[in-house]
Amino acid sequence: MCGIVGYTGPRDVGEVILNGLKRLEYRGYDSAGIAVKTDEGIYVQKRKGRIDDLSEEEIPEHDAGIGHTRWATHGKPSDKNAHPFLDCDEEISIVHNGIIDNFNTIKDRLIERGHEFRSETDSEVIVHLIEEEYEGDLLKAFKNVVKKIEGSYAIVVFQKDSNELLVARNQSPLVIGIGSGENFVASDVPALLYYTKEVKYLRDGDTALISRDEVKIWDENDEAITRETKTIDWDVEDAEKSGYEHYMLKEIFEQPKAIHESILGRLTSFEDVDFSKYDFDEVQFIACGTSSHAGYVGRYIFEKLAEIPSTVEVSSEYRYTSPSDSTPFTILFSQSGETLDTIAAAREAKRRGCNTLAVTNVMESSITREVDEVIYTQAGPEIGVAATKTFTTQIIILYLLAIELGLRKGVLSKDKAEEYKDELRKLPRKVERILDDKNEIKEMTESLVKAEDIFFVGRNINYPVALEGALKLKEIAYIHSAGYPAGELKHGPFALLTSETPVIAIAVKDHTFEKMLGNIGEIAARDSPVIIVGDEDKELKKLADLSYFIPNTPPIFSPVLVNVVLQLIAYYTAYRLDRDIDKPRNLAKSVTVE
Ligand code: AGP
Repeated sequence: MCGIVGYTGPRDVGEVILNGLKRLEYRGYDSAGIAVKTDEGIYVQKRKGRIDDLSEEEIPEHDAGIGHTRWATHGKPSDKNAHPFLDCDEEISIVHNGIIDNFNTIKDRLIERGHEFRSETDSEVIVHLIEEEYEGDLLKAFKNVVKKIEGSYAIVVFQKDSNELLVARNQSPLVIGIGSGENFVASDVPALLYYTKEVKYLRDGDTALISRDEVKIWDENDEAITRETKTIDWDVEDAEKSGYEHYMLKEIFEQPKAIHESILGRLTSFEDVDFSKYDFDEVQFIACGTSSHAGYVGRYIFEKLAEIPSTVEVSSEYRYTSPSDSTPFTILFSQSGETLDTIAAAREAKRRGCNTLAVTNVMESSITREVDEVIYTQAGPEIGVAATKTFTTQIIILYLLAIELGLRKGVLSKDKAEEYKDELRKLPRKVERILDDKNEIKEMTESLVKAEDIFFVGRNINYPVALEGALKLKEIAYIHSAGYPAGELKHGPFALLTSETPVIAIAVKDHTFEKMLGNIGEIAARDSPVIIVGDEDKELKKLADLSYFIPNTPPIFSPVLVNVVLQLIAYYTAYRLDRDIDKPRNLAKSVTVE
């Protein structure tokens, strides 16, 4: 939602904070700001716009400071609503990520007591509350404030006379970077990688005091505790563009490696979950956005490989459904592990008596503490707002899970399982072949940039891939697009088909292929330009205006390959339209509001 960074140490604080914020820009990018301790008081620079709009030269060199990159929730993007905020006397400064649910009541009370608010945000109440509580001991005041606020927060505070940072977290991520004679804090690891790989993840309810030489942490009961120091195995380059024009393109090209890493060690024995503890007779997948599309693909994979019936729920809806007697094993997908809708759904599933498993890409992310089991996709950091390699690896995890469950249930023979595993091993090379054809795929997008509406159609396991292709195009190219089961267009959307409405049709040679041929014929007869992505076929070629044929693969594995083609189509269409590909308007990488 928002990204925060704090630093105390001998380096140039402006450089450390701006550098860190740039690595967190995927979390929000409608305004940015920095506050630095100086001998004269607190220096603040903040404005609507990107981090690059801040003037680094103007930031005084000093030894402590905090910074923020924002994705607006309360109060539209503007200079005054940008963080950091100061108290009335301009002696304390804070940055906040999250939402303070009870801010209205607190604000009214503070206004009555004479506090002057300078923004429309919920966050500003925090700094005035600290001012109100402060009687010479900032830590004590801060801890009192944390007890009074409700909602989600990651907060960093400092005071003009000290180079210590105070932090607190509840349902918004915060990680402390451990240095030598210096320490850091940030919303996410990429902001720290330049300086340290040693980190401590804070838990919900934790508060901490960070000085140059030590980190003290207290848990929700105010007991002093230690949180384990972990070593991050990501390199700085993993979180850099490495010569690619956009993170999204880099992340698309990292997919062969990401698939390889995700299957590594899991093909011989898949020990991430203690399967014997749970009942897998029925499964439900819960997630948002792209991650929910992984769930829809999962339904077909589970039915085919493990004969397990499954349903898919969008997280934001699941909580409001009526509980039934059944308690399906619940698999929640969230690449960030911070999506509040999905975290809330995990809690609800647990409340209803379901066992839960989270599939996430981010170590120690919030969702990992809400579930019985966790599987990490090994995709490496994903910075582009559009999910690419994390979606692919979520699907890889689904194959691995379904093979394991199929074997355990006795519905999948060992030989068949080995066959499937062999196909998984071949996927990275096949994805590489598609990536080698990037120029050919780029050419195909020439006709798409003029379109106002684009349809994506698929059948069976490739229907969710059509949904994902449409989401990606909407998200980064800003072209209205919709994914449909191919058989559904004739039930309404046909009315929209004209020679100006391209249809991207996914056609693989599974049991629905003949029907798909018929559907594509009907579309072509309405004069819509047809772009086919799928298995090579003479009949398809005749119907297509443009086509791209994927490397030969069993239909059950085709979503991985088809989706890479659709990612490239979305990327190059957005590129031709000169869109802000890594930071599409109005979006953020992790959505920590409901
Ligand atoms: C994907 O391109 C989107 N940015 C978005 O739909 C995303 O998948 C969704 O917000 C869920 O995020 P999560 O996987 O981190 O929970």
